[in-house]
Amino acid sequence: MAKQITRRSFLRSGAAAGAALALAAKPVFAAKHLKPVRVGVVGVGARGTFHVKTLLTIPGVEIRAIGDIIEEHAAQSQDLVEKATGKRPKAYTQGERDFENLCKRDDLDAVLTATPWEWHTPVMLAAMRAGKYGATEVPAAITMDECWELVKTSEQTGMPCMMLENVCYFQNALTILRMVREGAFGDLVHCEAGYQHDVRFTKINDKGELLWRGQHSLVKNGNQYPTHPIGPVAQWMNINRGDRFTYLVSMSTKGGGIRNFAAQKLGPDHPLAKQDYAQGDINTTLIKTANGLTVTLYHDTNTPRPYDLIFRVQGTKGIYMGTLDKLFIEGVSPEHEQWEPFAPYMEKYAHPLWKDLAKEAAANGGHGGGDYITDYEFVKAVRNRTQTPQDVYDAATWSVIVPLSIESVTKGSAPVEFPDYTAGKWKTNPPLPVYGA
Ligand SMILES: NC(=O)c1ccc[n+]([C@@H]2O[C@H](COP(=O)([O-])OP(=O)(O)OC[C@H]3O[C@@H](n4cnc5c(N)ncnc54)[C@H](O)[C@@H]3O)[C@@H](O)[C@H]2O)c1
Repeated sequence: MAKQITRRSFLRSGAAAGAALALAAKPVFAAKHLKPVRVGVVGVGARGTFHVKTLLTIPGVEIRAIGDIIEEHAAQSQDLVEKATGKRPKAYTQGERDFENLCKRDDLDAVLTATPWEWHTPVMLAAMRAGKYGATEVPAAITMDECWELVKTSEQTGMPCMMLENVCYFQNALTILRMVREGAFGDLVHCEAGYQHDVRFTKINDKGELLWRGQHSLVKNGNQYPTHPIGPVAQWMNINRGDRFTYLVSMSTKGGGIRNFAAQKLGPDHPLAKQDYAQGDINTTLIKTANGLTVTLYHDTNTPRPYDLIFRVQGTKGIYMGTLDKLFIEGVSPEHEQWEPFAPYMEKYAHPLWKDLAKEAAANGGHGGGDYITDYEFVKAVRNRTQTPQDVYDAATWSVIVPLSIESVTKGSAPVEFPDYTAGKWKTNPPLPVYGA
């Protein structure tokens, strides 16, 4: 069983930041010098298989167990591991709670889950209770109770739980983090971001089945996938580390996108083309912070459109606009009030993680390499028995936007308060440092 290394005091103390900083100067070692990090992966559909492939490229990782309710999915990942390492991991395929047996193995350091959303928290709770580091796909939780359970269980067991918010490791997101830390935009006042991605195909498949994401759209209306856009914003704004989200208001448009998609794919007489779906096509949520900053957050996945996370970052000295890939900084940008290209700033403010890992990330990770750095950072924390760079308080704060936005929409866009998972420690927690591999 993994050593229980953290308590609330460690989880939210400068020790975590210090540990991360201490790692900053460390080079990337070859696998033979590294202590192995033994991982079990639960949920190996599209995303989980991707994690298996990525983990296999990270030096020192050993995948010892694979869990899935579908035997063929597990077998496919077992094959991948066996082909890469010569060792076949054990499969756990005996029903929806067989992950509990996987978590109880005494030869694992960590458990990663990429199941559908409703299983993330149950898997993480089982992992932490068994003394394992937890890593979960996004969102970490989809109800208020689950968010609290994650925080309390991490505090009680002393085990970290990292939500693998990969957008935080995108190259532009980390460049902006460094620019914000170095004051390039002055004091931040506002950010705008959105999960704007046509993912209708993940809700209804070619066979005319309503998939698990579609089931959520059937019964709930709010921002059901907030963490990709809010993760980087929260890091830029020092949320839980000097500031905190206090309340939100949320509003959704009428729905229709999924029904139209079903009609297009399956014909107008198909039951899914006649179905009412609770989810509005575009949800807009406004968030206020204790220090007076605001965020506009979009959830826009049911109509045809190009992918765009927006990422408007605005401060007292200037503004970055991700959609344009341009910025303007007063007194620095050459033309008065004219956008200039972001590319030179990507070099000038290159984040040390990207300087250290660009080659490996480009060769081995999706989303422009951000996925590799995400898994690498988790593995590094497990190996060094340190806090994870995104902690359980981040996981809960970013994920709770799901139930809070649903509540606000249900109540006619009424303001809804964020819980303070840090119990006041956000006032003294140091900002996330800018550190390397
Ligand atoms: N971070 C990203 O960029 C990113 C990208 C895609 C998906 N995701 C997230 O990854 C997760 C999985 O998405 P997906 O597209 O791979 O879904 P998927 O449906 O392709 O895969 C889910 C897998 O989990 C298995 N499963 C279901 N219930 C289980 C249980 N109780 N125990 C064990 N296995 C179980 C299914 O059989 C399936 O193999 C979701 O949370 C999604 O939001 C994140």
